[in-house]
Amino acid sequence: MTERTCLAVVLGAGEGTRMRSSLPKVLHPIGNEPLLAHVLRAVAGAGASDCVVVVGPDHDAVAKEAGRIFPKASIARQMERLGTAHAVLAARSALERGFDDILVVFADTPLVRAQTLQRLRAAIAEGAAVAVAGFTPADPTGYGRLITENGRLVAIREHNDASEAERAIGLCNGGLMALDGRKALALLDRIGNANAKKEFYLTDAVALANEAGLRAVAVEVEEDDVRGVNTKTQLAETEAVLQRRLRQAALDAGVTMTAPETVYLSADTKLASGVTIEPYVVFGPGVTVEAKAVIHSFSYLTEAHIGEGALIGPFARLRPGARIGKGAKIGNFVEVKQAVLEDGAKANHLAYIGDARVGEGANIGAGTIFCNYDGSAKHRTDIGKGAFVGSNSALVAPVNIGDGAYIGSGSVITENVPADSLALGRVRQVVKEGWASRLRSLKAAGKNEAG
Ligand code: UD1
Ligand code: CA
Repeated sequence: MTERTCLAVVLGAGEGTRMRSSLPKVLHPIGNEPLLAHVLRAVAGAGASDCVVVVGPDHDAVAKEAGRIFPKASIARQMERLGTAHAVLAARSALERGFDDILVVFADTPLVRAQTLQRLRAAIAEGAAVAVAGFTPADPTGYGRLITENGRLVAIREHNDASEAERAIGLCNGGLMALDGRKALALLDRIGNANAKKEFYLTDAVALANEAGLRAVAVEVEEDDVRGVNTKTQLAETEAVLQRRLRQAALDAGVTMTAPETVYLSADTKLASGVTIEPYVVFGPGVTVEAKAVIHSFSYLTEAHIGEGALIGPFARLRPGARIGKGAKIGNFVEVKQAVLEDGAKANHLAYIGDARVGEGANIGAGTIFCNYDGSAKHRTDIGKGAFVGSNSALVAPVNIGDGAYIGSGSVITENVPADSLALGRVRQVVKEGWASRLRSLKAAGKNEAG
């Protein structure tokens, strides 16, 4: 089957008004990836070599996202929303190029899995002209009903066009379909719009195939595979299903999570086997964690790389470009942005590290701030191997601190510090002996200046 060519037609010309959002519906994210991206990854995973995304009149942002995930994807425009068959025909020029299989999927059905689409393709490879994903929802209202006779799929009746008896059928059209690529155009071109909605229904391909003596089949799938998103509530429900899947995949791959239901993952989160994640950790997009690292509770990570055996948090914030080396430590209330902490470096408490390199084994004391921003531009800080930055220091970038140097606590460092030296940038301590007792005696005498 792998040698069979396959074109995916992704229908995404939905209005999305029920989302109450200015963002096109299919660009709403789950797992920090647009709905459309999930669908495109599934069709690619099912072996689609080409893909056409059918969009409405003005959805340039959708076109851009399609190209990001599936570079070969082309865009077809459906200027008027005249039905699902009409939408598929917007991809006519691709259909005419000739493929073994055509997959039709909806861009707002993001939980469809590659393996499910492969089962539809397999039905075509075995000789069916049309294969339809069927499922049995708790409430079938609104779905097309699958009408079968002796195990054959003879028609799909849309809810609005169905008789009472047909509405009693529980098996519904999930909306995913595969078609024999050599027969698809002939079937699609014969579809009319004599129905309740005056739309060109893709689902009519089933009855037309039967009339032409071709075979149509229903392939039963799980409800999640065909779960559509029309509202923010459904978006949240879909997110919950995705999160369960992502957590399960991480657990299966050997990640330890004591309370997985409290961990939020992104679709692209990469966790090595042997990673431990404590409760309440959020992974934004683009995070990779290497083996034996521990992410303690309440940490929030985005576009970060965490090396083997590193310890992060609790309450750590890793922002884009944070690269934490092997065995390095980022403690509570430490924020890291665009900075490399080399192997074994430590920032255990209350620090901001931005636009920097922190050399191997260097120690950043509590309260240290990398002052990277001068109000208009960002500047870099470079800290050498084994350097020690005392607590509550402000490192005013651009500035370099050499290997093995010491920075006295409370320093404001504005000039480069050579290797192995000590830098102090603070007011010298003054001690006035006896001052406090003099103050107390003056107060007792009714005066208030100790001098
Ligand atoms: C469709 C099916 C129905 C099935 C249900 C599953 C048809 C006729 N009906 O109904 O049998 O049970 O999905 O969810 O296919 N679209 C376009 N252009 C159009 C019309 C639709 O691109 O002109 C796209 C939409 O963006 C959406 C998809 O096609 O992604 C489905 O359209 P929708 O109107 O939601 O179809 P349903 O009435 O839900
Ligand atoms: Ca729908």
